[in-house]
Amino acid sequence: MGRGLCVPLFGFTLLQLADAAARFTSHPVEKLYVVKGQTANFTWDYHVDNINSEFDAQSPRWYYHNGSYLIGYGDGFDGWKFKINTKTCPVRLRVPTVRVSVEGRATLVITNVSLADSGTYGCRLHLTSGSSSSMPTSEARLIVTDSPGPPSFNVTDIEASSAVIRWAEPVNDGGSKVTGYKVEIDSKTYYTHSWKPNYFAIPGLTKNKVYVVKLYARNVAGYGNASSKTFTTKKEGPPDSPVFKKIKESPTTATLSWSKPEENGGEIQYYTIYKKLAGEAEWSQVGTISGEPLIYRVKYLLPGKTYSFHVTAKNKDGSSLVGVNVMTVTLPDETTKIK
Ligand SMILES: *[C@@H]1O[C@H](CO)[C@@H](O)[C@H](O)[C@H]1NC(C)=O
Ligand SMILES: *[C@@H]1O[C@H](CO)[C@@H](O)[C@H](O)[C@H]1NC(C)=O
Ligand SMILES: *[C@@H]1O[C@H](CO)[C@@H](O)[C@H](O)[C@H]1NC(C)=O
Ligand SMILES: *[C@@H]1O[C@H](CO)[C@@H](O)[C@H](O)[C@H]1NC(C)=O
Ligand SMILES: *[C@@H]1O[C@H](CO)[C@@H](O)[C@H](O)[C@H]1NC(C)=O
Repeated sequence: MGRGLCVPLFGFTLLQLADAAARFTSHPVEKLYVVKGQTANFTWDYHVDNINSEFDAQSPRWYYHNGSYLIGYGDGFDGWKFKINTKTCPVRLRVPTVRVSVEGRATLVITNVSLADSGTYGCRLHLTSGSSSSMPTSEARLIVTDSPGPPSFNVTDIEASSAVIRWAEPVNDGGSKVTGYKVEIDSKTYYTHSWKPNYFAIPGLTKNKVYVVKLYARNVAGYGNASSKTFTTKKEGPPDSPVFKKIKESPTTATLSWSKPEENGGEIQYYTIYKKLAGEAEWSQVGTISGEPLIYRVKYLLPGKTYSFHVTAKNKDGSSLVGVNVMTVTLPDETTKIK
């Protein structure tokens, strides 16, 4: 800056002045994501050796988009207090309520942000010397997010005890990526953080019943509005999913028992038992049984390991859903048994 270049008597003084030029010491993040209705906080701060001689009478200056939309400035005639420039400050930031203020020395705070507030904000240190294009300037982008719009979906594979919903990402993501979905049906709610593919098999439905199913998408701003569909389950179809009653385990076996599910118009022919070692992706079939008692002993398991189990029931129309009503157990170590 000009001041540092004036010819001094002592080189040391020159160095010190040049080195101590007014500058930013804190910048907001480049992209500031704020949920609609919340507070945006641009955390600027600066260093200046002698504010009265180095700062212009209006400094710093905070603006929206560019210098034409000056929001306000530090008033050198009033102890550097923040003043709004009512001629150039965007109207929405001050009418009907003033939503903009400065905290600390330069942190610009905008309360109750709306989608219209999105855009670039800047802060410039206006100095008494140097050209305006060389003044220290820092910018950040405010991205105001809203909850996502309703995701469209279809109900497919409608059976007596289950139905599948398949959906598309909402057209309007609210300005921030969708991070999960929620399904509501008949006072039950199913959540997910990463349902991919966009598919969910709803278990445990009652045959020949009218259901309303609602689907919500969420992002950083929360759940948006639902889309909904009505469907009627079939009078007949594959059985409902069996529910485990209890499990008894030894170091190498797990004895499973379950209750007979709704048959949905076709006698149950047999049950299929599946297991999965913790960490495995696929279920593997361990056996079938055709009737009472509804008990199955899974053998040759590894002591101390964690297994998941589930059972499907089959009738003339097909099998109940795979992977519903899963039971997970950790088997005891051999040593536990010897005791
Ligand atoms: C703005 O951020 C600063 C620093 O994180 C914090 O001290 C201050 O309380 C925040 N103000 C508001 C209104 O959130
Ligand atoms: C600021 O942006 C507006 C709208 O894009 C433009 O008309 C104006 O010339 C710009 N002013 C400056 C100082 O760049
Ligand atoms: C926040 O702004 C909205 C308009 O964007 C307004 O309807 C609401 O009353 C404001 N809330 C508060 C607490 O000022
Ligand atoms: C949710 O629905 C209400 C009422 O229909 C509407 O005012 C609002 O903008 C909608 N919100 C979203 C995120 O779509
Ligand atoms: C729903 O079904 C219609 C008609 O088959 C199809 O055009 C649309 O893409 C489907 N929507 C979804 C989300 O799968």
